[in-house]
Amino acid sequence: MNIIDGKFKTVLTYGTFDLLHYGHLEILKRASLLGNKLIVGLSTDKFNDIKGKTCVLPYQKRKELLESLDYVGKVIPENNWDQKVTDIQGNNIDIFVMGDDWEGIFDELKVFCEVIYLPRTKGISSSKLRSILDD
Ligand code: CTP
Repeated sequence: MNIIDGKFKTVLTYGTFDLLHYGHLEILKRASLLGNKLIVGLSTDKFNDIKGKTCVLPYQKRKELLESLDYVGKVIPENNWDQKVTDIQGNNIDIFVMGDDWEGIFDELKVFCEVIYLPRTKGISSSKLRSILDD
């Protein structure tokens, strides 16, 4: 087991991860390297409806793709905006990670764990891929 700073660290991130792409791979890899286990909160199809996001791939397929990655330890459903504190406490999370398109938005979680915003990969997004598929 790889112990960082003498302690087993668990990292948590969230997202929809539709049409898994290299921007997703980059952030997941970098997030996983911050600790020993990466948990991904994956937006459910119902939650995407609430957010007004229409995916090409349904939850189960998006989950399978994430689970196939060595650096993803576990995938949990993201059902709403308000579950983060419960997820952090229930999974003993040490570090919460999001892309810097969310910079500052989750700073209130700093009382529960470290909060880190990582730079997004330029030039790729699920929206961009969906628009190509729609052509
Ligand atoms: N992300 C990233 N680099 C990209 C695209 C996404 O680092 N080029 C990160 C986001 O910042 C987020 C995570 O990947 O932390 C999941 O983002 P998600 O919204 O699922 O991916 P997008 O490609 O941004 O999807 P969409 O275009 O539908 O918003």
